Amino acid sequence: MNFELSPKKFTEMPTEALVVYVFEKEMELKGAVRDVDRITGGLITSFLASGEFTGKLFDHAYARDPGGLQAKRLFIFGAGKKESFDLAVLRRLSGAISRTLRSKSISEFAILKRSAFDSAEAAQAVVEGVILAQFDVDCYKSDQEAKKPLQTMWLVGGDMARKAAILQAIERGRIVAESQNFARELINEPSNKMTPTTLADRARSMAGQFNLGAEIMDKEEMEKQGMGALLSVARGSEEAPKFIVLRYDPEVVDHSTKMIGLVGKGITFDSGGISLKNPEGMEKMKYDMSGGASVLGVIRAISQLKPKARVVAVVPATENMPGGRAQKPGDVQTAMSGKTIEVINTDAEGRLILADGLCYARKLGVTHLIDIATLTGAVSIAFGDVRAGVMGNNQKWVNAFLRAAEECGEKMWQLPMDDEYGEMIKSKIADLKNTAGRNASTITAAKFLEAFVGDTPWIHLDIAGTEWLEEAKPYCSEGPTGIAIRSIIQTICAQR
Ligand code: BES
Ligand code: MN
Ligand code: ZN
Repeated sequence: MNFELSPKKFTEMPTEALVVYVFEKEMELKGAVRDVDRITGGLITSFLASGEFTGKLFDHAYARDPGGLQAKRLFIFGAGKKESFDLAVLRRLSGAISRTLRSKSISEFAILKRSAFDSAEAAQAVVEGVILAQFDVDCYKSDQEAKKPLQTMWLVGGDMARKAAILQAIERGRIVAESQNFARELINEPSNKMTPTTLADRARSMAGQFNLGAEIMDKEEMEKQGMGALLSVARGSEEAPKFIVLRYDPEVVDHSTKMIGLVGKGITFDSGGISLKNPEGMEKMKYDMSGGASVLGVIRAISQLKPKARVVAVVPATENMPGGRAQKPGDVQTAMSGKTIEVINTDAEGRLILADGLCYARKLGVTHLIDIATLTGAVSIAFGDVRAGVMGNNQKWVNAFLRAAEECGEKMWQLPMDDEYGEMIKSKIADLKNTAGRNASTITAAKFLEAFVGDTPWIHLDIAGTEWLEEAKPYCSEGPTGIAIRSIIQTICAQR
């Protein structure tokens, strides 16, 4: 899809659809919106007066062949309350506009910038919103012909003195959103088509495309590395586990260059293992490799945005299955770090594979860590699908991330990490046990991971509640959301 800046007057754009947005209870139309209204003989005013259109967020109305304009259609969209209009709302509104137009087989349109936001920042939000809104889950439906993809969007009314900055922001938005969609596509794949081997293949070919270093370890190499926690999960499956490592190195590297390790949970299917899950909703457990897909999406964007820091993406990938050789409750495993783990529940497998992923990333010499995982059902009890859980061992690093999340319009909330929670996962027979039961289980899972990060500043993101939308929104398909990808990219790019 193309995003173009137009220096033309908005009212003179020859286009399939001219799009303007109007706030709730906006009494007095101003600027180009008033011009449109005047030229069309009061079309917008009459939509407002009739009650056909309210200005509520995502509400919309349109007219064909509006007199006086060069455009074939005029769309007005509600932008909600003016006081709550920010870049996050603009991103979603742009998404809703693009999905609505696409559903009407319109492939080219022009939108008028009205906000007081910086033209470059606004352009990036719009581009992100539109690209993210194009994602759909129905790739295995035989009948794909109905969908006519969007081709061109004209951005009108930006500050043309800042043209170079706006074009750069458009490119940034495209890189970020396409990388987020890349991850969503991987996540959406069913587990019979997205095995650890196919995930590794997809990672390798993406790395080739974007000039990233790639190393894929197989089971023998994991054994050599002593990855006993990861291998204990892989035992129950016929599918070969893979350990994926992708690297980005900036052109200039010196002693002050940070190295950020991203570790993503790559369970391509979580049956629970011997501690088998309830069948209800188990089909969703194909998304248990979301964290892994997310770090691949992040490094895909990083390879193009070229920040100063080094970045390594690590994805321990395996199925969690109850095969004849599967690990059993009560088994004791030795992680790569040397710590011993009593496996109370084989369904608490994510922390096992992440323990070795984090340990391996530290061995590579990372200065900062971020892990991301669909780790606990409890995080959705706490936050639903609204906010992701953030935990960490270094408040400065956590704050850098929370600030980035705020800037990207992604909702997160920090949970506490008191020592008492760590006491709960001490084992009688080994160093740690992999679960302390239901109480505070999002936090005890994070405490388990903390035991493997040493003194490296570390952030843990639990996206189990926010990675999957059950119902579509006007601006977003149901299914994988790609939550936290933008925030991680932003955090890395903000490192000096
Ligand atoms: N992948 C699941 C987490 C999950 C559960 C995500 C439900 C989405 C919906 C994880 O491996 C898991 O099974 N966690 C258990 C841990 C428990 C056994 C301590 C959980 O949260 O129920
Ligand atoms: Mn599990
Ligand atoms: Zn899991």
